[in-house]
Amino acid sequence: MIKSLEINERLEKYISDHSYDLHPVQRDILKYNDTLGHSKKMQISISQAYFFQFFIKTNNLKKILEIGTFTGYSALSMGLVLPKDGDITCLDINKKTSEEASLFFKKANLDKKIKIILSPAIKSLNKFKKDKKKFDMIFIDADKENYKNYYEVSLDLIKKNGFILVDNVLWKGEVADPKKNDKITNVIREFNSFIKKDDRIEKTILPLGDGVTICRKI
Ligand SMILES: C[S@@+](CC[C@H](N)C(=O)[O-])C[C@H]1O[C@@H](n2cnc3c(N)ncnc32)[C@H](O)[C@@H]1O
Repeated sequence: MIKSLEINERLEKYISDHSYDLHPVQRDILKYNDTLGHSKKMQISISQAYFFQFFIKTNNLKKILEIGTFTGYSALSMGLVLPKDGDITCLDINKKTSEEASLFFKKANLDKKIKIILSPAIKSLNKFKKDKKKFDMIFIDADKENYKNYYEVSLDLIKKNGFILVDNVLWKGEVADPKKNDKITNVIREFNSFIKKDDRIEKTILPLGDGVTICRKI
């Protein structure tokens, strides 16, 4: 068996150089996030965003919900490949980063397609459930303590055969390190064990970025 590769920055750049060209506003967000120090790690990786674009296009997904938007890299990347009648609803609680993200969406002429709701995500999700809203794909990437709550409501909001993607499920590899026993690592471990047993979905974990679980509602 071939040992899995460690994707360092050099290899990430090689993959990027041989897969796609970034949109100018994707470059702007990456450049801006580079100035943010520690918070930069909130953003999904470049190859992860490219995979999301590929996934959206090949599955013809149109209605997308993002839980956790930060400065907009993942939402903008997804927005760039949506068809004319597609849109993205973003949920976040951070006013500053949401305003920054909105400026990037406008700069890419995507401000009509991508909207941010500034409110605790669970509140918006429960309202969508009450309003019987449906989505083709939901991307969960906000506070880890609420992952299970977000996932449960998301299952109600996703169409049959729709997808739920969940970020950071490998948590820098720490989920598999018995020496790590902090709160968030354990929350993610519990979430992963819960998903493994959930027969309402088909699922797989991809070692992409910080680990992404892909679930398809049966
Ligand atoms: C990891 S970042 C999202 C990164 C983004 N998807 C990207 O690729 O750039 C997590 C985001 O979740 C937001 N967040 C944290 N707790 C939240 C909550 N209770 N409701 C809504 N958003 C929340 C934070 O403000 C932050 O912007």
